[in-house]
Amino acid sequence: MISKDQLRELLPSALDQTSLPLSNKQTGKVRDWYDLPDGQRIIVTTDRLSAFDRILAAVPYKGQVLNQLSAWWFEQTRDIIPNHLLSVPDPNASLVTIVSPLPIEVIVRGYITGVTTTALWYRYSIGERNIYGYDCPEGLKKNQVLPEPIITPTTKGGATGHDERLTCAEVTEKGFIDKTIWDQVQLAALAIFRYGQHIARKAGLILVDTKYEFGMAQDGSVMLIDEVHTPDSSRYWKADTYEARFNTGNEPENFDKEFVRMAYAEKGYRGDGEIPSMPNDLWVAASERYITIYEMLTGNSFKAGAYPVEERLLKNLEGLGIK
Ligand SMILES: Nc1ncnc2c1ncn2[C@@H]1O[C@H](COP(=O)(O)OP(=O)(O)OP(=O)(O)O)[C@@H](O)[C@H]1O
Ligand SMILES: [Mg+2]
Repeated sequence: MISKDQLRELLPSALDQTSLPLSNKQTGKVRDWYDLPDGQRIIVTTDRLSAFDRILAAVPYKGQVLNQLSAWWFEQTRDIIPNHLLSVPDPNASLVTIVSPLPIEVIVRGYITGVTTTALWYRYSIGERNIYGYDCPEGLKKNQVLPEPIITPTTKGGATGHDERLTCAEVTEKGFIDKTIWDQVQLAALAIFRYGQHIARKAGLILVDTKYEFGMAQDGSVMLIDEVHTPDSSRYWKADTYEARFNTGNEPENFDKEFVRMAYAEKGYRGDGEIPSMPNDLWVAASERYITIYEMLTGNSFKAGAYPVEERLLKNLEGLGIK
């Protein structure tokens, strides 16, 4: 494992943006992407860390972990559903097939938790008993396991920026996705989630909930896209302490990027106004957390790519005719 001192030294060189010699750069919160001819795309996962819908910092190796962890899950789940990944030319970059993304975020939940307005626990705690179309019994406790994982779809933010909650039936009734496709998506999402929970368990973690995105390929097939079971798209808890803590009414031990959100919340920040500055130790800890999760889940030892990333990236992409 890379030492804290090494991580601290790398903080100023973390990859906060890219500028490949291509004319069509697009950016999301965490990724930069460039479309190539022939329906292909280079997605570069940067070191940007987002929470509260804001970019808070750039964390060394976060991009590499997200890119390589997603690639690992894409390989592992290929027999459940095809995905967009074609190759991984650089630790931070993936070559993918461009698809038409389906307009729904497919969230799968194994536990009732969460305090944001779309979260199951939040809805339950304000008295709702039919949530996302599921009837919930009285007496559920925060962080309790659900009888089986459920899908809680939301629309993708779009212009208003707000994700609208939907029942699984509404996804087709409101015309977001064709019934045959939606049935396929639901089956795949539940299968990948169960597989993810199984792998996480073996690694000493609980995969609590996650978000998937799917798209339609040129040939009409459904593909898994974006990122899979990363600490950015998923909630993970430590498995060995879950039960004792749940039984005594304590919060589970998070093992994702929740501790970053909590550090901000302790300073009174919840996403509005000026972003407080945080000590470098927080970002060093975040970097370590991402690397540890990669190693626990994949069983591989993390092979740190060279910094600065962009130089290396350019060299690795030359083979694709990008220079
Ligand atoms: N193969 C693909 N074809 C088309 N679009 C894709 C493909 N894979 C991913 N995308 C889209 O690329 C974007 C990835 O960007 P990124 O995750 O950085 O930003 P974001 O989704 O806006 O932010 P956040 O993940 O924080 O909500 C997403 O909008 C995703 O739907
Ligand atoms: Mg995203």
